[in-house]
Amino acid sequence: MSANIVIGTQWGDEGKGKVIDILASRADVVVRAQGGNNAGHTVVSGGETYKLHLIPSGILYKDTLCLIGAGVVLDPKDILGEIDDLSARGISFDNLKIDPRAHIIMPWHIALDGLSEKFRGNKDIGTTHRGIGPTYMDKYERSGLRFYDLVHPEIFREKARSAGELKNAVITKVFGGASLDIDGIIEEYIGYGQRLAKYMDDVSVLTYEAAKAGKTILFEGAQATLLDIDFGTYPYVTSSHPLSAGVCTGTGVGPMLIDGIYGVAKAYTTRVGKGPFPTELEDETGDYIRNRGGEFGTITGRPRRTGWFDSVIVRHAVRVNGLSCLVINKLDTLAGLDTLKVCVAYKRPDGTIIKDFPPTLEGLEGCEPVYEEHPGFSDDISGAHSFDEFPQVAKDYIARLEELCECPIKMVGVGPDRSQIIER
Ligand code: IMP
Repeated sequence: MSANIVIGTQWGDEGKGKVIDILASRADVVVRAQGGNNAGHTVVSGGETYKLHLIPSGILYKDTLCLIGAGVVLDPKDILGEIDDLSARGISFDNLKIDPRAHIIMPWHIALDGLSEKFRGNKDIGTTHRGIGPTYMDKYERSGLRFYDLVHPEIFREKARSAGELKNAVITKVFGGASLDIDGIIEEYIGYGQRLAKYMDDVSVLTYEAAKAGKTILFEGAQATLLDIDFGTYPYVTSSHPLSAGVCTGTGVGPMLIDGIYGVAKAYTTRVGKGPFPTELEDETGDYIRNRGGEFGTITGRPRRTGWFDSVIVRHAVRVNGLSCLVINKLDTLAGLDTLKVCVAYKRPDGTIIKDFPPTLEGLEGCEPVYEEHPGFSDDISGAHSFDEFPQVAKDYIARLEELCECPIKMVGVGPDRSQIIER
């Protein structure tokens, strides 16, 4: 038995999907514990491409139990779309379970996400407009609607009406937005609840029982460390805890159940949305990495901002998640660059050098990356089957990242296919 977590160490899109998919193929149970359909990962399997938002990737294996935990926010319409699309491609949902405690994303959350972003003007967060923040706001204000409510029409009608009327007042009177048809929404969502009811089960109990029975469990992280509501670049973050600890609260299991925590990073850095990015490259090298790496958002199609590998960030991820090992993805993307730079520390405006990621935006302001330069490699490494086949400079680059991040690098990704990951 083993229970492992896969976490993003940067700002998301590190290629967690591929690592998750490899580990999911060996898992009996796959669990999503936080976030919602703001996540998006692409899994290429058996020549087919699957784009998953909320459904755990274990769904591609017919005997794997797929769990959506209490910490997730669930858009019923979106998940039904995903279920319908994948069902049409022959995927079975018999093993999907959703915790009754998971909060429901309603149309007013989506409307308010867009209106608040517009209201912020050029100080917007750059959210995915999926209603994530407003749904977590209601959860923490203790006025949210949960999956249990959704599948019980009488309870749902009453709670959704009072929530919806209040939100409608905020939408129209505060933001000057268009009024929503609350009754129409309630009836539409009751229909979704009826279709989803059969998936309801206690994910905390199921996960605990699976662990006791010696099953292999994979906790599939969404988003990433620097998007964490507390330990990310607040306020340019998401509204959940994409850290290893978030897996425990979002599933309802204790930390002693966990055996290993994999942190996934790219061999460089990317970010979508707004916020600070010390090693950002707004030049031809940045374009080269974006185009070679296909760095465009899975959910929104937005071009991702690109930059050099930042070991200050990944070391922060090693600490706040207690990582057992690292996976470095997309090393092949860097082929063809004469020089590879790695950020080893930040230089503050007063000249002091810091090695720990600052806790606030104010502390990060004006920080300049301190770079170390490494020779690049021109060889195409996407066909390599073992670490020994890498050019020496690529091996040295990986060894140096390992040293700087203070964490063993167990896998290196050299291409999008599941086979293009080298276990070291
Ligand atoms: P929200 O999660 O939609 O509220 O967006 C908040 C911030 O998190 C924005 O900068 C998004 O671009 C970012 N974000 C949310 N989910 C993901 C993800 O799965 N990958 C990368 N960035 C994400």
